[in-house]
Amino acid sequence: MSSKLWGGRFTQPTDKFVEEFTASIEFDQRLYAYDIQGSKAHAEMLGRQEIISSDEAKQIIVGLDEIMKGIEAGKIEFSVALEDIHMNIEARLIERIGAVGGKLHTGRSRNDQVAVDIRLYLRDEIDSILSYLAALEGSLIKQARENLDVIMPGYTHLQTAQPVLYSHHMLAYREMIARDISRLQDLRTRFNVMPLGAGALAGTTFNIDREWVAEQLGFDGVTRNSLDSVSDRDFAIEFCSFASILMMHLSRLSEELVLWSSADFNFIELSDAFCTGSSIMPQKKNPDVPELVRGKTGRVYGNLMSLLTLMKALPLAYNKDMQEDKEPLFDTLDTIKGSLKIFADMITEMAVKGGNMRVAAARGFSTATDVADYCVRKGLPFRQAHEVVGRTVRYCVENNKDIPELSLAEFQKFSELIEADIYDYVTLEASVNARKSTGGTAREAVERELARLAE
Ligand code: ARG
Repeated sequence: MSSKLWGGRFTQPTDKFVEEFTASIEFDQRLYAYDIQGSKAHAEMLGRQEIISSDEAKQIIVGLDEIMKGIEAGKIEFSVALEDIHMNIEARLIERIGAVGGKLHTGRSRNDQVAVDIRLYLRDEIDSILSYLAALEGSLIKQARENLDVIMPGYTHLQTAQPVLYSHHMLAYREMIARDISRLQDLRTRFNVMPLGAGALAGTTFNIDREWVAEQLGFDGVTRNSLDSVSDRDFAIEFCSFASILMMHLSRLSEELVLWSSADFNFIELSDAFCTGSSIMPQKKNPDVPELVRGKTGRVYGNLMSLLTLMKALPLAYNKDMQEDKEPLFDTLDTIKGSLKIFADMITEMAVKGGNMRVAAARGFSTATDVADYCVRKGLPFRQAHEVVGRTVRYCVENNKDIPELSLAEFQKFSELIEADIYDYVTLEASVNARKSTGGTAREAVERELARLAE
């Protein structure tokens, strides 16, 4: 005789270590509220469909509510012998309300139950992640709005390329976060369909009402194939790919924040609240938060790989392998929630050293393209203009001068097309503000963008 809910077929007890090895209760207990939510809707449906009596349904629902309170009050201890959250809750229910509790699992299996639980859980988590993403988007926009005067070097190959507004740089990250938001909304729509009713794999012999349960649980509809319903983990993989792309974005911003807060760049100062000191070097203020977020990107990519590998070549339908879907998913959720939360505050409190950015922007011949464009407007083909300015820059390097410091005579050594008005084109402001096209860095283009975002 076995005390297991599935013990009927067995004559010997499970090996103790096998019990521990196969149990998921240690990590799937975080699904308890969703397991109860799904079970309540299922029980009510069983009553409505007269598969069980309405009194039995009521007893089950009341019992589940009590278990919910018990768990929330920390009064319920989970047992490894009961394997997972589903059987822990069901066993408790039977303990509390007696044999009628055993009717809850009618027309259902743990395979469709776990599929519905994860979806309910993930859906809630996605809704809170969407609000974290909106907060980060808001802090990027705020940085942009408050620093419209700041000009910084724009880079390609991490070499000074052309001056840009710091606001423009911040809004570039806003674009990435906006795409992340849209990706997340998109995948949420795709997976918000209810798998319950698939049974173990083939459907159920009972006259259940899946559509009604789906509506109760806030799903947009029901899944269309029972085999797929219990074996699909695409949504977890899609979520982890969304998360990987998000972390890739955060790692890029992290890298820039680390560089910018070094003494060599000295573009920003992170608030003390987000840094730590060194135990040996008293002068150090380390940008730990962006460094850690950059580092955590690795585990999120790893989780995506775990899930893809977990699901690879699995035959239909449910396989126990799939119990391994939870830890990578949960770890991804925890990691991105933490990273987003801390980033939104850190960006809001970051101090911008506009003067230093400006000095750096003026170095490295950042307005060379503007001289070339000037020559083009005077009639020179761009390739020739490129050559002219190339020689001008070489002259500057050899004579340790910057482009705006050249005299008109010096300019004219390289092209007679250059006249006194060149000086109107080679300042940082002129260079930035000349790039007015939509998506450009000119102050008016950036202000237009900020106004659009404010709508
Ligand atoms: N703990 C299991 C999981 O997370 C629940 C489903 C178990 N189904 C089964 N047939 N053993 O995958």
